[in-house]
Amino acid sequence: MADEPKNTPAGDAPAVEKPAPRPAAAKPAAAAAGNDAKLAGRTTTAAARPAPKPKAKVDDDTSPLMGRRGWMGLAWGAFTAASAGCLAATGRFMFPNVLNEPPQQFTVGFPEDYGEGVDERFKDSDGVWVVRTDNDYTNEAPGFYALFTSCTHLGCTPNWLSAENKFKCPCHGSGFRPTGINFEGPAPRPLERTRIVLAEDGQILIDKSRKFQEELGQWTEPESFLQI
Ligand code: FES
Repeated sequence: MADEPKNTPAGDAPAVEKPAPRPAAAKPAAAAAGNDAKLAGRTTTAAARPAPKPKAKVDDDTSPLMGRRGWMGLAWGAFTAASAGCLAATGRFMFPNVLNEPPQQFTVGFPEDYGEGVDERFKDSDGVWVVRTDNDYTNEAPGFYALFTSCTHLGCTPNWLSAENKFKCPCHGSGFRPTGINFEGPAPRPLERTRIVLAEDGQILIDKSRKFQEELGQWTEPESFLQI
């Protein structure tokens, strides 16, 4: 005789024992096993798949790489710059630099306009002193000579000190007599004289393109001194 269930209330159906749930890993493992069986004998590498089609290149200016319009702009810029350079060179050829230097020859007035001594009117404008003397020591005669206003040491411009009757260079202290002869400081030789003659109109004409140096014996040459 079969055993009756214990502790079961009278009239109730007997309790049915539920089956235990399958472990979760069992299903994927089984599926994988099934897939392996299906793929057996087939190639499964990525190379076997068809390569994706390359996307068509879109020619727009928003691309980080330079587009056709960018290259055209660059070419036009280079062309414009080259044209401007050619124009500038042509302009420079047509209008060369012209130095407006003071003329080398100029008149400084009539002899009677001058008193004896050093005249500084043409020092700044023309770079010469005009000197009138009653007895030039090299020519032993009265007349005029003109001195360059450039120190023979390093080229500074001396000052005429009438109270001391000398030219004094502010740079290194060289001193020159009214004749131009150096007597103190580092200047190695006298000031230089310019050519001086009478112009056709009777004015004194100074010509700075020609110079006369005392140490070369040139102060006795005719146009180094204007005898009056
Ligand atoms: S430049 Fe005149 S003394 Fe030196």
